[in-house]
Amino acid sequence: MKLLTKVLAVVLFSISLQAAAQNSDAVKMKTFIDVLMKKMTLDEKLGQLNLPGAGDIVTGQASNSDIGKKIREGKVGGLFNIKSVAKIKAVQKVAVEESRLKIPMIFGMDVIHGYQTTFPIPLGMSCIWDMNLVEKAARVAATEASADGICWTFSPMVDISRDPRWGRISEGNGEDAYLGSRIAAAMVKGYQGNDLSKNNTIMSCVKHYAMYGAAEAGRDYNTTDMSRVRMYNEYLPPYKAAVDAGVGSVMASFNEVDGIPATANKFLMTDVLRNQWGFKGFVVTDYTGINEMEAHGIGDLQQVSALALKAGVDMDMVGEGFLTTLKKSLEEKKVTQQQIDVACRLVLEAKYKLGLFEDPYKYCNEQRAATEIFTPANRKVAREIAGESFVLLKNNGGLLPLKKSATIALIGPLADAKENMPGTWSVATDFSTPISVLQGLKSAVGNQGKVLYAKGSNLDADSMIEERGTMFGKSLHRDRRPKEVILKEALDIASQADVVVAAVGESSEMSGESASRSDIGIPKLQQELLEALLKTGKPVVLVLFAGRPLTLTWENEHVPAILDVWFSGTEAGDAIADVLFGDVNPSGKLSTTFPQNIGQVPLYYNHKNTGRPLPEGQWFQKFRSNYLDVSNDPLYPFGYGLSYTSFSYSDITLSSKTIKGNQSITATVTVTNAGNRAGKEVVQLYTRDLVGSITRPVKELKGFQKITLAAGESKKVTFTISNADLKFYNSDLKYVAEPGDFKLFIGGNSRDVKEADFKYQL
Ligand code: BGC
Repeated sequence: MKLLTKVLAVVLFSISLQAAAQNSDAVKMKTFIDVLMKKMTLDEKLGQLNLPGAGDIVTGQASNSDIGKKIREGKVGGLFNIKSVAKIKAVQKVAVEESRLKIPMIFGMDVIHGYQTTFPIPLGMSCIWDMNLVEKAARVAATEASADGICWTFSPMVDISRDPRWGRISEGNGEDAYLGSRIAAAMVKGYQGNDLSKNNTIMSCVKHYAMYGAAEAGRDYNTTDMSRVRMYNEYLPPYKAAVDAGVGSVMASFNEVDGIPATANKFLMTDVLRNQWGFKGFVVTDYTGINEMEAHGIGDLQQVSALALKAGVDMDMVGEGFLTTLKKSLEEKKVTQQQIDVACRLVLEAKYKLGLFEDPYKYCNEQRAATEIFTPANRKVAREIAGESFVLLKNNGGLLPLKKSATIALIGPLADAKENMPGTWSVATDFSTPISVLQGLKSAVGNQGKVLYAKGSNLDADSMIEERGTMFGKSLHRDRRPKEVILKEALDIASQADVVVAAVGESSEMSGESASRSDIGIPKLQQELLEALLKTGKPVVLVLFAGRPLTLTWENEHVPAILDVWFSGTEAGDAIADVLFGDVNPSGKLSTTFPQNIGQVPLYYNHKNTGRPLPEGQWFQKFRSNYLDVSNDPLYPFGYGLSYTSFSYSDITLSSKTIKGNQSITATVTVTNAGNRAGKEVVQLYTRDLVGSITRPVKELKGFQKITLAAGESKKVTFTISNADLKFYNSDLKYVAEPGDFKLFIGGNSRDVKEADFKYQL
């Protein structure tokens, strides 16, 4: 007992020391910024709120460039998307040597899924369900970016989306708030580490706040409108999780919410973000977010700039509305000096926390840039993570894995397409480096077997569509020969092969920003290629490239094996070979539902029951909530993904059938690897609240564990459930757990589950 008291005293003492240190850091920062701000003119304060685009900065001429002139005049707070220590150093030098107050600038970039070592697109990453790996990827990205001059990333993007038409679904973590929240926290931790002032950690910026993923009809930048209850329960949690994890900045979204663009939305920026969640960092707009409010129709540039500042926005990306109009608004008493000061202080605080006042060049170390970027060790991590992100959607008759001794006909427009491997938003990738599928298969096979290659078809019959889908240097090198000639070449090599691997689907820029689609199938020309390949009678493996869930009903019916590889980064080709040949057993699980057809969208696992639910297992009943022409079922449910082995689940054992007050219970299943090779399984826990003061989803993810099992091995997997897991926002937006009856489900996806019942009592 004495020992316990002593230990407790030591712990409390060290906590109080930590708190005191934090306090004194905060006091030091405040004093420093107070002194600095006293020296600043209004123009210099407004300058800190300005984040112009970098333009084309040329090293050696930075000082004479347009940007250089503005920096010298103290009109620039930071720059983004410039790459290289040399360039960043050159502009930083102008700021700290030639501007009056020598305030260093902050350098941001869209380091979305890796820096030069590029990881899977976020939608792919979200199929890994291993938070250590997610954090590790962000850590590698932060190390590389910070070695190259960057100290701020516009990531994670945590917009929940249930609409695969929306191209930016590729940049987020899918449809589920719980999984999205876990990923948001892991990424912030990976980028920021425990100490933001270190030179290998960078400030994270969670985006796009808020509800950007619910754009009507999946059309980018479109209107968002939803109830508060839905916002709080289903869309806001991942942003909050990032705030709880200590994210340093937040980016406003382009869309409106409740009729007010997010950029001028006081409810979002002040009431929720600052007052309810206690966010202490700064808010930046998205690219020209302020100016776009003129087109939204809520005022001219002066008016919308004032609205943004008053709502709680601190930094203006690209548009210069703050820089050019806030002075006038202050004179006209449309904004206050205090509002400008608060914004300026928050931006300066970010720079202080990053340690830029102490050493403005701390991220500009040529030695680090030369040795820490795109290293063999980082690429190894990326290859491992890429392999974990693939989702095996179908594998009839155990067609996969393939033998390396086989003759393989690799066919398809994505087969020899290294520029398309990293996927959307790979700003820092060197496009000469990614490994294509062709390269990956060839180096895996060596001289054991043979890899034959033919393109088979272009991406799309329409060259305009191909052009739109291959912008920013992601060319697929369109083949101008007649399609019959291109196809014949492919059929010729297919006839010589044991197996056909078809690398088809979307190109890199068919998803991402401003890349919405109204038809989310594999482009028709490529489907025709698949049909022709199937007609040869050779077994066909579909290696699917995609930045969103696609409608694959036809493919699922006809193609024996389908592996979804998303866009998986610089190491894609090697990782694909690892999985195709079974060196890595696929373990990815979907973070979004795949619909049977586009008319079912939005289709998501955690929907409400309605007053007229369709009885399970049925297709149609008159006067029930359903369609005449398609069942309500998804093609592949949330959480789904196969392995080269199979897993069986025992029934659930509960430690008690009742959760009383703050006590918790455990739910245990035994998972067995029933096949003959080792594999990983994501064991998923869901609950259903049967009666609530508001209607509740039919299932909600509440936990998951990724486990590894040797062939034949069994493991007990235990989840702890307490009333904290049962909480939701009620119609008064109070976060409560309501007593009553619940169901609990455990399984390898959201559909195929074991079931148990429990009660929650106060
Ligand atoms: C995107 C953001 C991105 C910003 C800066 C915008 O168009 O919406 O996600 O961070 O550009 O590049």
